[in-house]
Amino acid sequence: MTAAPDAGGIDALVGPDRVHRRVYTDPELFEREMERIFGRLWIFVGHDSQVPNPGDWVRTRIGREDAVMTRHEDGGVRVLLNRCAHRGMAVCMGRSGSARRLVCPYHGWAYATDGRLLGAPHPKGYDDEARGRPGMPPAARVAAHRGFVFASLAEAGPTLAEYLGEIADALDNMADRSPEGALRLDGGCLRQTFRGNWKLHMENAVDLIHPGFVHESSVAAARAHMAESGQDEAGADQAVLMFRANGLSPEKWDRVGIHAYPEGHVFMGGFYRGGAIDPDRRDGPFGRYRERMAEAYGEDGAARILGRETFNNLVYPNLSLNTRFQQVRVVHPVAVDRTDVHSYVFRLEGAPEEMFHAAVKFVSTANSPASPVLADDLAVFERLQDGLAGAGGAWIDLSRRAGRDEAFGARGRRDAGTSELALRAMLGAWRRYMAA
Ligand code: FES
Ligand code: FE
Repeated sequence: MTAAPDAGGIDALVGPDRVHRRVYTDPELFEREMERIFGRLWIFVGHDSQVPNPGDWVRTRIGREDAVMTRHEDGGVRVLLNRCAHRGMAVCMGRSGSARRLVCPYHGWAYATDGRLLGAPHPKGYDDEARGRPGMPPAARVAAHRGFVFASLAEAGPTLAEYLGEIADALDNMADRSPEGALRLDGGCLRQTFRGNWKLHMENAVDLIHPGFVHESSVAAARAHMAESGQDEAGADQAVLMFRANGLSPEKWDRVGIHAYPEGHVFMGGFYRGGAIDPDRRDGPFGRYRERMAEAYGEDGAARILGRETFNNLVYPNLSLNTRFQQVRVVHPVAVDRTDVHSYVFRLEGAPEEMFHAAVKFVSTANSPASPVLADDLAVFERLQDGLAGAGGAWIDLSRRAGRDEAFGARGRRDAGTSELALRAMLGAWRRYMAA
């Protein structure tokens, strides 16, 4: 194994249109990512609707760190490392709970929901008062945008608003799609693990060349199903339409568009409009939803919110939002060649129940263990990891449409959908964070 490179060495691993395979395979670089990326940047830890009442807590992660998001008695959200100050045991076991005090299962040390140590059993064994000793370590900084809670383990750095920049539009759009402007995470979590590097998943989400090849079998099945059943676009199931849309021609993918920001945040446009949630639809559950949106925001406001049609919006380094289907995926690095992916859906407060059902159906067809689309992608990640670890070439090519992008918004760049702009932007940001 090679030693982790110095800053100059990091720069040499990522060129303007190529990246060295070690970026995906070197355990020393992975350790550095945990320190410089997951240990410093703003990392998504959950949505405040997961902890509605004082005492509520939910397990989460910041990079590899086991963490807990709590609702404290003052009404604020806290993020603590899930580590007992006595001997290091995980204080909160299980996935979520509600309690006035968080009690360590090993020797019973008890903590308030802001991490303060309240006391230890048999206090006479100690010369001093347990109170006032360090408790569960809080994340250095916690901030939220529209209920999306982020934490940073670094004391200093840009504010969350500065860090998010224009990608905050994606979080706003997801919340604005509720007639009440509020989201509620509901319906549990789908968990996947794959044997590959975490960046492969993020990059794949905005790689618009792969769907027609990798997902060819479900494209064919969807086309055949629609032909045999005589379904038209308006009547077809949302999942069938999504499967079919993966088979767009390269010219149509190019029209989707890809966008990138200097911090490494990227997003792709929407790539199919039809079906039960077609923004122009006025009938059925979507029609009723649209009416409520127009009442809340006015006709123009509703049209503007529903007209922001995007598919994957990636907040660097590891959050992926699909605003139209009220879904988020969180990509958790475990090791250089191991990654967990957690998928969640939201209710749009004030929207008809059917909107939530459509979102659950979407997340099930796109991200469940039974999804033919996800299974294809996970198989690719594992083969990529094997290929990159092998004796083949050292460099990965990222040159597609390099240099053809144009300015977008205040600080962004934009290009046709089949450009590898988003991959270059994420890896360029990686290089800066890793060398800093
Ligand atoms: Fe937590 Fe001992 S390790 S009380
Ligand atoms: Fe895919």
